[in-house]
Amino acid sequence: MQIKFHSLDAPIGVFDSGVGGLSVLKHIRELMPHENLIYLADSKYAPYGNQTAEFIQARSFKLADFLINQGAKALVVACNTATASAVAGLRERYPDLLIIGMEPAVKPAVAATKTGVVGVLATSGTLKSAQFAALLEHYGQGTEVVTQACLGLVECVEKGELNNASTLALLKRYVEPLLEAKADTIVLGCTHYPFVRAMIESLVGPDVVLIDTGAAVAKHLRNRLQEKALLNQSTNLGEASFWSNSDADEAQNVIRALWGPDVELKKLLA
Ligand code: DGL
Repeated sequence: MQIKFHSLDAPIGVFDSGVGGLSVLKHIRELMPHENLIYLADSKYAPYGNQTAEFIQARSFKLADFLINQGAKALVVACNTATASAVAGLRERYPDLLIIGMEPAVKPAVAATKTGVVGVLATSGTLKSAQFAALLEHYGQGTEVVTQACLGLVECVEKGELNNASTLALLKRYVEPLLEAKADTIVLGCTHYPFVRAMIESLVGPDVVLIDTGAAVAKHLRNRLQEKALLNQSTNLGEASFWSNSDADEAQNVIRALWGPDVELKKLLA
């Protein structure tokens, strides 16, 4: 597929299975306020966590095609699950495009732990992937890494249930085994989870460090844009547009709650 952006003010395209990638977009906005951004939530097909790698790759191709047709100059896969299943395929499909993926922050967690036990909260798709196995092989040696798939948690965030009793109960179930194993560092290995960070903090207490990758991804993106001379030179505040294929009436309100009150959500039909 032809990459068709024409100028440095072309947007950065960011996608996720749903609204979770907004936690990454916030860091991108903070670090690069002059960049224009397009965010695409594949909420109709969320969660990706239990889907096959083939399905996730096919969805990722569709979403990437859309963002490139909108003129994106770079692509951020703001989803650990989609990165594991699709980033290699995306790079093959668009060899000339800057594509940034993400993976659970095992490396910094291993460096930070004092008890020698690291917990990882992620989707089962991420935890079962060959990429995650390779990550553990590479960085997990000598540390006990306890993983926990969080079934149902992405759905809570998609519905905007960020501060209620049932989400808290679900989180408690997932966090307890990590605390029992004496994890003092917990990786938020899914981009939806930073939106329930306050609840996780209330469960784990002040002595447990939570690590997510949003800030590191934004920094890596800026470095790569700089290397390729693709940073926007404008000094105006960049614009952000938001697309979703969700059929839910509350989709716009959920994105407003996570991003800000001015969002006018555009409907993607595919
Ligand atoms: N935000 C995605 C991730 O980072 C969630 C995956 C899902 O939809 O299950 O893994």
